[in-house]
Amino acid sequence: MKKLNVGLIGAGFMAKAHSLAIAGMPMYFWPAPALPHRKMVADITEDLAKDAAARLGYDQYTGNWMDIINNPEIDIVDIVTPNDSHAEIAIAAAKAGKHIISEKPLARTAAEAKTMLDAVNEAGVKHMVAFNYRRTPAVALAKKYIEEGAIGKVLNFRGTYLQDWSADPNSPLSWRFQKDIAGSGALGDIGTHVVDFARYLVGEITEVMAETQTWVKERPIQTGGVDKLGTVKSSADVPKGIVDVDDEIMTLLKFENGAVGSIEATRNAFGRNNFLTFEIHGEKGSLYFNYERSDELQVFFADDPADRRGFRTVYTGPAHPYGEGLWPIPALGIGYGDTKIIEIYDFVKAIAEDTNVYPNFDDGYQICVISDAILESAQNRQWVKVNKLQVTTP
Ligand SMILES: NC(=O)c1ccc[n+]([C@@H]2O[C@H](COP(=O)([O-])OP(=O)(O)OC[C@H]3O[C@@H](n4cnc5c(N)ncnc54)[C@H](O)[C@@H]3O)[C@@H](O)[C@H]2O)c1
Repeated sequence: MKKLNVGLIGAGFMAKAHSLAIAGMPMYFWPAPALPHRKMVADITEDLAKDAAARLGYDQYTGNWMDIINNPEIDIVDIVTPNDSHAEIAIAAAKAGKHIISEKPLARTAAEAKTMLDAVNEAGVKHMVAFNYRRTPAVALAKKYIEEGAIGKVLNFRGTYLQDWSADPNSPLSWRFQKDIAGSGALGDIGTHVVDFARYLVGEITEVMAETQTWVKERPIQTGGVDKLGTVKSSADVPKGIVDVDDEIMTLLKFENGAVGSIEATRNAFGRNNFLTFEIHGEKGSLYFNYERSDELQVFFADDPADRRGFRTVYTGPAHPYGEGLWPIPALGIGYGDTKIIEIYDFVKAIAEDTNVYPNFDDGYQICVISDAILESAQNRQWVKVNKLQVTTP
């Protein structure tokens, strides 16, 4: 079985998810298409990288990510750094002929994402952007229902991503609140997952009309090298820095196929944790998904007898997408780690079988184009047409 050496760059939150997936994938999907191996990890200092190698199970570590790019033994570069370094790393990795998986959003702007797309196309390497939520079996099942015509022509997509970790104004000024690092706020951080759902399930988005708000305009500056997200509270007398990204976005959507829709994303919705949802209405039925109940897809079929009509709950299991690799009975629990395991399975399979994998940098770029259009619409207070890349997303 072919071994694929992975060099992971960035050793924070996502490093844990990706490393777990690399280690766990062959235990789920056996025989594995190839064996990903945790070869080398990089962070901004050698100490951080050394700790990460011990914690996450890598053979080698470095305080300089170029060591991964220059290492001829590395087959896959896995980018899990904040958004401002995705482009530089991906372009260097492509030039070195490495296959690349990058966390989302692909870049801070569409222009930056385009440089990455051009680099991977020129190099002819495999590329993937880590919108892992579409790998939740219930989401893949919704796609199957739609493609089979079970709910007919889609009329409306209504998506949300609501969290509350930044609702407290004393949660620190994470890089996620700084435009030069993040590109945008709730939009890039969580809203883009819903944009990915919309494109995956319904089709290309052609026009947007948006509103954005920044509720907390300054936050306590962090001390120490590690980003604290919103889980650690600072005391009120810590010096503050400016938040220059959106806390909340709402947008109306028009799709190429005539459907309409809306997306809301905020990290300031008290009581909501990972309220990532979609409800899709078609001419013959409806579908509803909420990641907080990630095993379940709710389905409604209009041709059910009138006295039996109502949403029913399908618990995903062996009969559903990716069921062969997951657990032997439905409703044992689909977790965040499972979606990442499926993601790396699909990526490694594409490398081993020399096929395309989705969502890739084409999708990542197009989602950045849509994000730019959302911000432009909110600023100019008018509908904005989305420039379309000719992508081959299934
Ligand atoms: N798919 C998802 O569900 C999901 C969830 C969270 C984050 N993300 C994305 O993952 C990426 C990383 O987010 P995170 O939450 O893991 O961030 P984090 O702040 O927890 O970790 C980032 C790590 O990268 C390191 N780093 C920064 N610059 C570096 C550089 N130049 N070289 C090497 N290491 C560097 C930092 O020191 C830190 O250890 C972001 O793009 C984010 O949007 C995706």
